[in-house]
Amino acid sequence: MKIQVEDINLTPSLNVVPDFNRKASLMKTDKVYEVQITNIVALTEHEKLFRLQFIHEDEAKVFHFLPGQFVMLEVPGFGEIPISLSASTAFVGQIELCIRKAGKVTGVLHNAKIGSMVGIRGPFGTHFPMEKMTGKDVLLIAGGLGIVPLRGPILWINEHRSQYGKIYILYGVKTPSQILFDYQFKEWEKIYDCEIDIISEEKSPGWSGKTGMITDLLKDKEMDVRNTYAVVCGPPVMFKYVCADLSEKGIPMDRMFVDLERRMHCGMGKCCRCMVGSTFTCVDGPVMDYWTVMNLKEAI
Ligand SMILES: Cc1cc2nc3c(=O)[nH]c(=O)nc-3n(C[C@H](O)[C@H](O)[C@H](O)COP(=O)(O)OP(=O)(O)OC[C@H]3O[C@@H](n4cnc5c(N)ncnc54)[C@H](O)[C@@H]3O)c2cc1C
Ligand code: FES
Repeated sequence: MKIQVEDINLTPSLNVVPDFNRKASLMKTDKVYEVQITNIVALTEHEKLFRLQFIHEDEAKVFHFLPGQFVMLEVPGFGEIPISLSASTAFVGQIELCIRKAGKVTGVLHNAKIGSMVGIRGPFGTHFPMEKMTGKDVLLIAGGLGIVPLRGPILWINEHRSQYGKIYILYGVKTPSQILFDYQFKEWEKIYDCEIDIISEEKSPGWSGKTGMITDLLKDKEMDVRNTYAVVCGPPVMFKYVCADLSEKGIPMDRMFVDLERRMHCGMGKCCRCMVGSTFTCVDGPVMDYWTVMNLKEAI
């Protein structure tokens, strides 16, 4: 029997014109915001913190992000790179990015002066589960450049302090000269009920702090594991050891969140550059719970 068009009982969702090729979201994610570098702080020999100010007020008002997300930063004529938002969400029209000099685009940025204009697209990716963590103790663990994305949740917790329990910040570096944001530690130490521990793999002249691996900081850390969420940022090899120790302490894998970074090109699930198995780390990540990461082949 021939089916009449009017016989087909379309559900409301099928009545909606399909957004093939995700055109609606592309329009949003393709948008390049013009921003100006208004401040540059040389944190170490290799990393600089850039403050960027939106040029157009109406664009500043619509740009909102959450800790853990990233932007695609465009340096006209040189290229576009993914960079974590290392900033407070509280300032409208202003963001901060901490950039390590690694190659072509980051090299140009390290030579940029205050007043230079660049572009940003985004924000992209998943964020740390700041809502799920309310009422819980939060363990923030960073290795090396991992302190850059971790600065977002630290500033968020400081701004919403009454919503969280005890806070632990554990930070490990190879050498003391690589420590980032040391000028902010005094501020972070003032965060109510917050313990900060820093450890360096190498002992250098003038370093009187702890020496060893980041996992050494975890060994003697007393915490209420039934009530704790963990956030781990750093090189993937670090996740393996740190998350194994956290598991041993009794924190379940779905309460551990990691920042899984891969080479990225489009930042919006189009080019497949960032794929791990069938997962787009630019859209389904970079923030993922460790259970998900463990089930992704070759993720770490
Ligand atoms: C989600 C995400 C967030 C990031 N956040 C930051 C951040 O906050 N600060 C920061 O300094 N860097 C960050 N990176 C890394 C940054 O994107 C790369 O360092 C940058 O793309 C290098 O660009 P380039 O043109 O200077 O280097 P290129 O000339 O392209 O390459 C120089 C060297 O860097 C390596 N490289 C390039 N891209 C990556 C990458 N994605 N990961 C690791 N190594 C890479 C290359 O293998 C090469 O050895 C992030 C990456 C991702 C995916
Ligand atoms: S960076 Fe293009 S698909 Fe993820």
